Amino acid sequence: MTEDAVPGRELYSDEFAADPYPTFARLRTDRPVCPVSGRFDQYLITRFDDARVALTDPRLSKDLYGPGQHYLRIFGPNSAGLNRNMLNADPPEHTRLRRIVSQAFAPRRIEALRPRVARIVDDLLDKVLPHGRSELMHDFAIPLPMTVICELLGIPPADHGRVLDWTQVIRTSGSSGRSAEEERAAVQDAQLRLHHYLADLVRAKRARPDDDLIGALIAACDDDAALSEAEVVATTFLLLFAGHQTTADFLGNAVLALLTHPEQLELLRTTPQLLPSAIEELLRFDGPLPVASPRIATEDVEYPGGTVPRGAIVGVVINAANHDPAHFADPDRLDIRRVRGPHLGFGHGVHYCLGVSLARMEAQIGLGALLRRLPGLRLAVPAAEVRRLPAASPFRGLLELPVTF
Ligand code: HEM
Repeated sequence: MTEDAVPGRELYSDEFAADPYPTFARLRTDRPVCPVSGRFDQYLITRFDDARVALTDPRLSKDLYGPGQHYLRIFGPNSAGLNRNMLNADPPEHTRLRRIVSQAFAPRRIEALRPRVARIVDDLLDKVLPHGRSELMHDFAIPLPMTVICELLGIPPADHGRVLDWTQVIRTSGSSGRSAEEERAAVQDAQLRLHHYLADLVRAKRARPDDDLIGALIAACDDDAALSEAEVVATTFLLLFAGHQTTADFLGNAVLALLTHPEQLELLRTTPQLLPSAIEELLRFDGPLPVASPRIATEDVEYPGGTVPRGAIVGVVINAANHDPAHFADPDRLDIRRVRGPHLGFGHGVHYCLGVSLARMEAQIGLGALLRRLPGLRLAVPAAEVRRLPAASPFRGLLELPVTF
């Protein structure tokens, strides 16, 4: 790392957690390709044009398990093979790993889930309605996508609670007030337990096949030898995590953005047909995955905004790119009627979000029902007091969203 790298602890301040967009604007202007030191050193890319190219640049590898063993720097020595899935692989490995699950996420298959998702949404809202108040992350934003992905994978209902507990330890890491060492130990423990749980579940389902997504992965393993058992477990882990974490944080961020922009909320209430475009705008405005997953420069890579040296880890800052005024007029304004240009909230290129149709459907049904059934929805605390995930978290989301209605 160069000597003029920005120390991560300076960048990821409390003000940054509350509102990272002024910092992103500064980086875009002053150091659009910026070395940052921290738990692992990386180069952040913040301009839209550079970011879009970087997300599809073959010189930036996603293979964290190949030469260089970069996963050790990024996930730590105890992550075993849990992250050895499509997200951390290049073609042709990536193509093989993605092809097996891509059918299950095709728009037509996802559309068939609509009635079940609507039922889950209604059940969750039925529970909160009589109370007149709710902590929406706990009562709604987290359990909605969690229940959907658990059911899709075939995780037995009796186990949803503990799976949720482990994933929440990982998601909220850094916010418990414990020492960094204790936090790391808690995350490793949760990850290990989840790993053992998923490995046992896959073994049990291999003995007694089920008609669910894990069953389909096992069939690919047993019938065509297209996947190893370890790959079935790692793919299940990715789908479980990617399938609920981002959607939960998106729902929380979206509701907060609407409640703090009452004219946009009112517009959406009175013009519900704007919901699909509102969801894209809310994702652009404050997305749940501020930085795309790590990439490795296989050679010195030059972008108009600067150069990334060979061997460096690269973080493409999706949320900075999505606020680039070169691409979005008045980018810090929430405007659910905005039509200009596709955002990078679901990524770009071969790693483009596999669950995009599911995420959009959950958001449409979830937000639609929330606005319809809780017409008096408002924040129960001042917006500045809403507790967020720590600034250095790879995710942008809320710890709590207290509301009344
Ligand atoms: C990949 C965003 C929901 C599964 C990605 C990427 C982004 C993203 C930005 C690309 C990461 C990269 O290139 O480094 C989101 C957002 C969501 C969401 C904002 C919700 C609002 C979902 C859901 C699933 C899912 C519901 C369902 C399982 C995946 C998978 C990948 C992925 C498997 C890896 C694809 C690959 O490597 O080929 N997502 N996602 N996502 N997403 Fe999503």
